[in-house]
Amino acid sequence: MIVGAMPQHAEVLAVLHKTSFTAPWQAKEFETLLSQPGVAAWISQQDDVPMGFILVRAVADEAEILTLAVAPEQRRKGVAQRLLQHTADILREGRPIRLFLEVAADNIAARTLYMRSGFAVTGERKGYYAGGIDAVTMTRTF
Ligand SMILES: CC(C)(COP(=O)(O)OP(=O)(O)OC[C@H]1O[C@@H](n2cnc3c(N)ncnc32)[C@H](O)[C@@H]1OP(=O)(O)O)[C@@H](O)C(=O)NCCC(=O)NCCS
Repeated sequence: MIVGAMPQHAEVLAVLHKTSFTAPWQAKEFETLLSQPGVAAWISQQDDVPMGFILVRAVADEAEILTLAVAPEQRRKGVAQRLLQHTADILREGRPIRLFLEVAADNIAARTLYMRSGFAVTGERKGYYAGGIDAVTMTRTF
């Protein structure tokens, strides 16, 4: 089941984020983001246990995926793919919407997920991340 996140879900998002990234975002940061216009998040949960979430910022007919994380023990069950589809379905409201994101060039799991979900590489940023790791921009119009 996928539910919309409110600022009071910030702690849940922070816990999930910490399971998936070496530089975790604090609950306060999620709370601030979720109170900004155009920012929305959805949590995938089963029996009230949060499995993963997606956070996006939408402006007109474009939305940037700010982060996406699935708890390690819940991976490879289609959670991320369903979160992507759900996000597109909610945001597009009958009109085309362009979803885009930046991902570390060496993040094979995420790049494969996005490719399998119909995203294409549309840009590259050299040395964008700490340690000089490149980023690629990936885009799909739904
Ligand atoms: C990337 C991530 C969100 C994928 O979540 P997930 O719920 O496991 O993904 P799904 O089960 O929906 O996977 C869909 C497809 O993506 C691809 N994929 C997902 N994880 C993969 C991996 N580790 N290696 C290769 N392909 C992978 C597969 O094609 C998969 O389909 P399959 O399982 O039928 O082969 C998850 O691994 C994660 O949270 N990683 C750490 C955080 C991160 O990198 N976030 C993205 C930053 S932009």
